[in-house]
Amino acid sequence: MSKIRNAFTVLMDIQTPIVAAPMAGASGGALAAQTSAAGAFGFIGAGYLTSSRIQEELSLARAQLLLSPTDPLPIGVGYLAWQLDKDPCGVGLLDISLSNKVKAIWLAFGNNIGRWIEHVRSYDASSGRDQKTLIFVQVSSAKEALIAIQDWKVDVLVAQGSESGGHGYSAAPPLLTVVPSILAVLPKDGPPLLAAGGLSTGGHVASLLALGVSGVVLGTRFLMTKESFYDEAQKHVLVMAGANDTVRTTAFDRARGTLDWPEGVDGRAIYNKTVKDVDDGVDIEIVRENFNRATQDRDPDQILVWAGTGVDLVTEIQTAQDVVRELHADMMKHLSFVSTLIAT
Ligand SMILES: Cc1cc2nc3c(=O)[nH]c(=O)nc-3n(C[C@H](O)[C@H](O)[C@H](O)COP(=O)(O)O)c2cc1C
Repeated sequence: MSKIRNAFTVLMDIQTPIVAAPMAGASGGALAAQTSAAGAFGFIGAGYLTSSRIQEELSLARAQLLLSPTDPLPIGVGYLAWQLDKDPCGVGLLDISLSNKVKAIWLAFGNNIGRWIEHVRSYDASSGRDQKTLIFVQVSSAKEALIAIQDWKVDVLVAQGSESGGHGYSAAPPLLTVVPSILAVLPKDGPPLLAAGGLSTGGHVASLLALGVSGVVLGTRFLMTKESFYDEAQKHVLVMAGANDTVRTTAFDRARGTLDWPEGVDGRAIYNKTVKDVDDGVDIEIVRENFNRATQDRDPDQILVWAGTGVDLVTEIQTAQDVVRELHADMMKHLSFVSTLIAT
């Protein structure tokens, strides 16, 4: 395939500037490996996994990529920083990925992200790695971006807009606002900026590249793959979902009891009876009981299905490799079209 060459693809040694997001509970070794094998870059979502489960997913990725136990792994692992803070084995959770020589670590959603970045850098220094572990941080404002660039010297910055599936800051502006506001403060020698939120098609990718980012991050589009951990019931809900079916809410975190997220964080999911009950003020104990029962029964009208606004544009479950190939071909078509608009 013809390649895209820019600061991000060169840094990552990839063919196309597309990243499959780390998705807690949804992206494992198979999804990350197949995305990277197709010329893009895939992340495992470490989320709530133990270090032995992270190791299993890393080993699966290594096997699928036909790499030996000592080869560097051309995938990344994404951590929820608040989860690292909370877990007495937080350092061990990170070290399992570092000892597997992953290419990148992604950090988001926490009040001590700098501490974990420092740990990665000192691990690299003491292990004498040839190539340093690249650090991705996801932000939703120019203010957060400046901290990531100046204080933490991140290698890649991800701008997350309010369209995003899964967790995000409820105050995040839409992508077409947050990207230019971060580009305005990004120094010339600053890290590559990626855009995340509501992106589903190659046309979306091309439009963001034209806006000035060096790459894109897609979550929901990769949820809708054979490799994601989502089950048939959840994938069916995603395939059937329309443009007005997602909502930003804290209802699911309240229903399942995951309440340690930093202040101001909610999540975009498919609207259903669980959200309606919380919004209607139904007693949270009753909501929890119903939610737990529905989760066991896989009731599509109450289970948790995170999704971004772009879910409407995806109507089938594909392999991760097919998603990358389709996005890349479609992106190239749109980029070629745009270049024909310039009068000579
Ligand atoms: C199921 C799911 C789980 C996610 N888990 C994480 C996570 O663990 N860490 C993180 O930084 N972002 C997480 N995200 C957000 C993604 O990083 C990204 O911002 C988002 O998926 C982009 O929007 P899109 O889903 O509309 O493509 C998750 C998103 C989804 C859909």
